[in-house]
Amino acid sequence: MSKALKLMLFALLALALTVVTACGANEEPAVEPTEEAEVEVEEQDESEVASEEATESEDAGVVNLYTSRHYDTDRELYDRFTEETGIVVNVVEGKGDELMERLDREGPATEADVFITADAGNLARLKEKELTQAVDSEVLTANIPDKLRDDDNEWFGLTKRARVIVYSKDRVDPSELSTYEALTEPEWKERVLIRSSENIYNQSILASFIELNGEEAAKEWAAGIVENMAREPQGGDTDQVVAVVAGEGDVAISNTYYVGRLLNSENPEEVKIGEDVGIFFPNQDTTGTHINISGAAVTKHAKNVENAIKFIEFLTSEEAQFVFAEGNNEYPVNPKVEPTELLASWGEFKEQDIDLTILGTNNARAIQLFNEVGWK
Ligand SMILES: [Fe+2]
Repeated sequence: MSKALKLMLFALLALALTVVTACGANEEPAVEPTEEAEVEVEEQDESEVASEEATESEDAGVVNLYTSRHYDTDRELYDRFTEETGIVVNVVEGKGDELMERLDREGPATEADVFITADAGNLARLKEKELTQAVDSEVLTANIPDKLRDDDNEWFGLTKRARVIVYSKDRVDPSELSTYEALTEPEWKERVLIRSSENIYNQSILASFIELNGEEAAKEWAAGIVENMAREPQGGDTDQVVAVVAGEGDVAISNTYYVGRLLNSENPEEVKIGEDVGIFFPNQDTTGTHINISGAAVTKHAKNVENAIKFIEFLTSEEAQFVFAEGNNEYPVNPKVEPTELLASWGEFKEQDIDLTILGTNNARAIQLFNEVGWK
């Protein structure tokens, strides 16, 4: 077998493994996370893949994407982009943090042109590690509100998510709910479910409170939630919602799309769990509900910069936004595009009014506060 052929087989094998392992990815599946063991397989033949991809990427007709998203609808969009532009999208899927490590490790040799991951906090980390580059695009600045992209345009929101209070319809009347802060009151003792502080979503919500209410109030909130936790933090957002329905606690702090995912599940038990909880948008009379994004960046060492920008522009277009957001039951970032029927049924809400760049700026301080109050 010729060396070239061997390399190609390696590349195909690695690609197949990547696709298989991608199902777990960064975003949790509705119920059973199975990703841990599998993702490691991806590492094995990396050097071989890199040399093969290097040959391919000299072709101007490609854009190479690292993404923690793994939805069928995304792939349909990539195909549509190829149809419209002739640019082929090569996709490497994986867990967000592992892809970030890989991008860092590969340095200037990376083939990744575009990086897509969840949370402005993660995107800010990429920027801090100098793995992104500034993009000057009128299309992107027109399609994406200022607060949903980096101050220096080194990353851009693609979808928007809300972190809300999910409550048991059996045991909680929504009239009892008001703000995130109110969940620290004694009446909620041992009733609040929320995941670990190691999770970026919680770091980002606390980072937002530092910005809006000051550090002291943010710390007080974190301490008050620890006081009222129904159990030690464990699992992801879906696990908190499941625990509400199981009666372990009465309210959970969760991103809305996890409830959407349960409601759209093919498993009737999951649908039932989704139906047994309500969504409450907190802080409507005060600072607004915490929002975050998943987003994209052009990598620092992108070889196909123009294609990368075209690709991200396409994902923010009216044509693509509905489908892209719908893939994960999220809100479009492009204000011209309507949310899905399900999201619309939860109603409109007042959002926190902060520039999401702040979530990165305040991240380290948020982690410190969590440690100080003993939030595991
Ligand atoms: Fe998520």
